[in-house]
Amino acid sequence: MIERKPEPELMDDPLEAEAYSITDFADVNKKFVEAFCELLPLKGDLFMLDLGCGPGDITYRIHTCCGNHKVIGIDGALPMLRFAQKQRGGRNLIWILSDAKWLPFRDKSVDSIFSNSLVHHLLDPKPLWREIRRVIKSGGFVFLRDLFRPDTEKKAWQIVESYAGNASDLLKQEYYRSLLSAFTLEEIQEQLIECGLQNLTIRYITDRHVDIFGTIL
Ligand SMILES: C[S@@+](CC[C@H](N)C(=O)[O-])C[C@H]1O[C@@H](n2cnc3c(N)ncnc32)[C@H](O)[C@@H]1O
Repeated sequence: MIERKPEPELMDDPLEAEAYSITDFADVNKKFVEAFCELLPLKGDLFMLDLGCGPGDITYRIHTCCGNHKVIGIDGALPMLRFAQKQRGGRNLIWILSDAKWLPFRDKSVDSIFSNSLVHHLLDPKPLWREIRRVIKSGGFVFLRDLFRPDTEKKAWQIVESYAGNASDLLKQEYYRSLLSAFTLEEIQEQLIECGLQNLTIRYITDRHVDIFGTIL
C-alpha cells in the first residue's frame, strides 16, 4: 500500500477553480444526486448542507430536485463560491464561505449533510467528522462520497488514464494527486469510530470511490 500524500486543502487558486468549474462533471454529479435521493430516508421540508460544494453543481441539482428544501453550499475557497454564485441561484439556495470543520450552525440543527470529494482534501478529517456529528439532528441523514487511495502509483495512473484520459494536463495531475491524497476504507473506518460515527456504512461503489452514509442516532 502506498503512503498518503496530502494535497492542499482549499482549491482557492483562481485558475484552478476556473478549470474545475468549467469541467463537465454532469454524469458523475447526476449519479451522486440519484444515489443521495434514493437513500435519503427523510420527508418534508429539510435543512441541508453541501460541504466543500465547489462550483455548486451538485448543490443546485439537489436543491432543484428536492422541492422546498433549504440547501446551503459551503466552501472555504472564495473563487469556487464566486462561480457557484454567478452560475446558480434559487429560492432557499444559499452559499456560505466557511471552513467545513468549523460550521456556523447550532448543535443538532441540520436535517441532512451531503458532500462529494471533500474528505481527501483534509490533512486530518477527524475535525470534519466531529463537526458533522455536532450539527446534525438525531435522525438526520449524512451522505459523503470520496475517492479511496489505490494500492500502487501505477494503479493511480491507470485510473487517471481510464477516466480522465482526455482532460487537460492540469486536471490529470490534480486527479492523480487527489488519488494519492485519498484515504483507504480502513482509515476512514478508524476515523469514524474515533469520532462517534461508527454506525455509518462505508462501501466501495466503483474502482475508485467509497460512499459513507447513514442515519445519525
Ligand atoms: C474536489 S472539490 C469538490 C467540489 C464539489 N463538491 C464537487 O463535487 O464538484 C473540493 C472542494 O472542497 C473545498 N474544501 C477543501 N477543504 C475545505 C474545508 N476545510 N472547508 C470548506 N471547503 C473545503 C475546496 O475548496 C473545493 O472547492
